Amino acid sequence: MNKEQMLKEMGLGPIWKLRQPPKKKRGEAAAPVGEQPVDARTAAIAAMGWDELKQAVADCTACELCKTRKQAVLGVGDLNADWLFVGEGPGAEEDERGEPFVGQSGKLLDAMLAAIDLKRGKDVYIANSVKCRPPDNRAPEPGETAACWPFLARQVELLKPKLIVTLGRPAAQTLLQQDVKISAARGMTHDFAGIPLIITYHPAYLLRNLPDKAKAWEDLCFMRKTMQGLR
Ligand code: URA
Ligand code: SF4
Repeated sequence: MNKEQMLKEMGLGPIWKLRQPPKKKRGEAAAPVGEQPVDARTAAIAAMGWDELKQAVADCTACELCKTRKQAVLGVGDLNADWLFVGEGPGAEEDERGEPFVGQSGKLLDAMLAAIDLKRGKDVYIANSVKCRPPDNRAPEPGETAACWPFLARQVELLKPKLIVTLGRPAAQTLLQQDVKISAARGMTHDFAGIPLIITYHPAYLLRNLPDKAKAWEDLCFMRKTMQGLR
């Protein structure tokens, strides 16, 4: 797919401006792996398969978000995926339907995936840093992402993706366990437990900040190139 086709595919033609692709930088600070305290719950989750995980999030009451959710949203996609995309948390439509990124942000995410010849469910798995909807579309609190972390950690372990892409700040911070500023952290590969990780903007942010779509376009090109290098 060339640039013109990509732009068309994303429905973003007039908004995008092609810039120089970002230089790939390696050797960023490695993720502090294994810093979570291993309590009984974490240990139990770390031994679960997909079916058990699904049931465990459905039954989970480890944080306040369980009180307001309609249903927990574990994730969706190809269990043999090379690509793992991680968002923030379910919104109203996701809470209703039990699948991540099915609302407005999801439409843009699907378009972004299509731009690099990817498709939900095919070589792609989509998850969130918290599995239950934060009320009023607020960002998840650190205590909530921490409580939910063992589920995402297990998903990564089961999937063994070749590349992780985080969408927005909470996802990046959850995986890297450090404060992240997207504008500074994008355009390079980070490391999560030996898996390359790329940080980009959240689709909901892009919908509100059209000029930054150009940067997201650069990020898409960068992630595609990175994956090509991994194969
Ligand atoms: N935003 C997210 O971060 N995740 C979703 O699943 C939907 C919207
Ligand atoms: Fe449990 Fe995560 Fe839902 Fe909190 S957000 S109740 S930790 S599944």
